[in-house]
Amino acid sequence: MGIIFALFQHFLYTYLHHRHIEDENKKFRWVLYGRALAFLAKVAFGGCVIVVFRQRIWRTFRERALSVLSIDQLFGATEDPSLFMNWETVSNAPILVTIALVIWIIPLATIIFSPGALTFGNYLEKETINRMVPTINFKSESNKDWRNPVKMADGSNRRSVMFYNTTDKSGTQPGWFDYYDQPSAELRRIALLLAYSNMDRPNIQQGARQQICGGSNNGGAFNCSYEQTFVGPGYQCSEVASGYGDTGRLKEYGAPFNMSELAPEGRYVYYSEVDQGAYVRPQAGTFLKGPGGIPVGDPDPSLGVFKSEPVLWVGYSVNSTEPLSKDDPLATNWTHRYDPAIIRCVHMETKYTVRWDYIEPSFLSTAKREYLAPIVDTNFLRMDNGDLDLSEDPQPKENWISPRNNVELYKKTAAYHAIGDMFRDFLRGHVDLAPPLPGPYYAQVYSDVTKTRLVEKNSEPKKNLTEEIEAFYSDMVLSLFSAPEMLPIDEEKVTMNRSRIQSSFVYVPERLWQCYAPVIFVTLIIMLFGAFTIWEDGTTFSAGFSRILVTTRNTTLDDISRGACLGNDPFPMELMHTRLKFGVLADGSEAEYMGGDGYQGVGHCAFGVASEVGPIIRGVPYAGLPDAGLKRRAKRENGTEKEVD
Ligand SMILES: *[C@@H]1O[C@H](CO)[C@@H](O)[C@H](O)[C@H]1NC(C)=O
Ligand SMILES: *[C@@H]1O[C@H](CO)[C@@H](O)[C@H](O)[C@H]1NC(C)=O
Ligand SMILES: *[C@@H]1O[C@H](CO)[C@@H](O)[C@H](O)[C@H]1NC(C)=O
Ligand SMILES: *[C@@H]1O[C@H](CO)[C@@H](O)[C@H](O)[C@H]1NC(C)=O
Ligand SMILES: *[C@@H]1O[C@H](CO)[C@@H](O)[C@H](O)[C@H]1NC(C)=O
Repeated sequence: MGIIFALFQHFLYTYLHHRHIEDENKKFRWVLYGRALAFLAKVAFGGCVIVVFRQRIWRTFRERALSVLSIDQLFGATEDPSLFMNWETVSNAPILVTIALVIWIIPLATIIFSPGALTFGNYLEKETINRMVPTINFKSESNKDWRNPVKMADGSNRRSVMFYNTTDKSGTQPGWFDYYDQPSAELRRIALLLAYSNMDRPNIQQGARQQICGGSNNGGAFNCSYEQTFVGPGYQCSEVASGYGDTGRLKEYGAPFNMSELAPEGRYVYYSEVDQGAYVRPQAGTFLKGPGGIPVGDPDPSLGVFKSEPVLWVGYSVNSTEPLSKDDPLATNWTHRYDPAIIRCVHMETKYTVRWDYIEPSFLSTAKREYLAPIVDTNFLRMDNGDLDLSEDPQPKENWISPRNNVELYKKTAAYHAIGDMFRDFLRGHVDLAPPLPGPYYAQVYSDVTKTRLVEKNSEPKKNLTEEIEAFYSDMVLSLFSAPEMLPIDEEKVTMNRSRIQSSFVYVPERLWQCYAPVIFVTLIIMLFGAFTIWEDGTTFSAGFSRILVTTRNTTLDDISRGACLGNDPFPMELMHTRLKFGVLADGSEAEYMGGDGYQGVGHCAFGVASEVGPIIRGVPYAGLPDAGLKRRAKRENGTEKEVD
């Protein structure tokens, strides 16, 4: 039973190992269960050893004459440790004393030390699991009809990234269609929040880490990381000219301006042209009064058509911080060299591969962009001088995206366009710089770009504006995640790694078995020894009151304890030192003892002084008690005094 209880304790602790239990009461109860098992194990092991101890105690009494004090101490070995201080017991009954010692040590090992195998601690919980996470899917914009709101789980409506106009509000007239009007209010909010936050990362929803990684705040939220891919809009930028006087590929692309506009030659430190060929608002045609942009009569054939997506032309100049030499022609107005550059960005459908690392207390996102194709793949024709002919429609016409035939493609394109639209609002305009000579030197801002992270503190654009623009736009797309009500926010299952520091039970099995192994081993040895003793003795013994009663029915004892038979304490010292031995009291050869009533040769076992008891022989049926009517003689130590009852 002891081994079984120890195993139960082991299994209980194994079950608790690394288990986080929030409720203090429950925690406390689990600990108590473990202790209860330890206690039961103690009872079982201790019980075994005590049985052997009792078996063995009689053997010792038979073999040695011990003082009454020692006999007392041996009987009280389980509750009184003074036994170990008594040289007589230690020297005369070493085995018994050792067994008694084991009885004392078992509770120490089991009750006190074994529960120490279960402690509390922090451990790093690590796992790789599949979880639903938000993703972006513009297909839901493709399939959206503003007439039928899409509901969220909580009953509120999902929000599109754009507002529509239509040719027919009811959507029943033959040939009706919806066409793009402008970015929706929600998209505006998301874009503005990102731009104004001035952070180097996308905005995310509050509590996103707990929601995405799982785990609660008080129970320990997870750190998690995963990668996901989705398709969305992206700006692909390239530098087409850089450096003072460089023309680069400006002509090749039909750039709307050249280096002459930018500092140090011109007055702009930032200059952009972002609206060439943009979708116009209002569209061509006449419309009914009121909302909805419903055309009067047959709609213009170009109504709502995306003929092109504007290319971003951004010129900027940065302070190289290298002082100009005195003889430099620019030195009349400038103290340091300014390096101008012109970049061109094309709005592309882009495959994003985003790695999210939600870590305490914030998160990191790394987006890789693979540009797939221009969102509207058309170009303006050139005039004779190489400039773009903006008065003519961009070509080829087949690549125009019309709201009439391919509605799904149209709505997706419109969604991309809406996000680009918001982005272009920030880039539009210019920042002028008054040169430091003759001074004063200051920047004049005619653009929202200075409200964003694209510029330095002094309103001059950042050095690596090409990458900054791409990343800023990509963060704007990722910021859609901050508003789960947005239509393009979808869910997907990804494989994520997550980890957290969890306060929990910690079980160290070695500690448990370090306690129990010696106990089990010693108990088994003692039990084998006990079995051997029983075999040798031919009978089992116990130390119950009745056994003591019958083994003390010796008149000699009555004599020597005269005056001290009330169980009074302290027992007279002189008596305490009387040596007694356990054995066969009556000598079978004594004539008086043969009553002729069948008790012939049958002795009575009892404590007595060493000289009056003989050895107990195995297999002989000794009488537990002498017959009541039997006259019996007892003799004193020296055998001279005789007394007849
Ligand atoms: C730059 O543009 C201006 C007009 O905007 C033009 O006069 C000038 O020749 C151009 N410079 C070069 C190098 O093309
Ligand atoms: C949509 O309709 C509104 C109201 O008629 C109008 O103000 C707006 O310009 C229209 N949008 C476009 C893109 O034509
Ligand atoms: C350019 O940078 C240098 C060095 O930081 C600085 O002293 C100078 O004032 C800057 N020039 C302008 C126009 O900001
Ligand atoms: C450049 O400096 C000269 C003389 O220092 C001044 O007359 C001229 O107006 C300056 N040019 C600009 C664009 O400030
Ligand atoms: C979560 O990440 C942060 C930052 O790397 C780290 O300090 C913290 O220990 C991590 N927590 C877990 C549970 O991994």
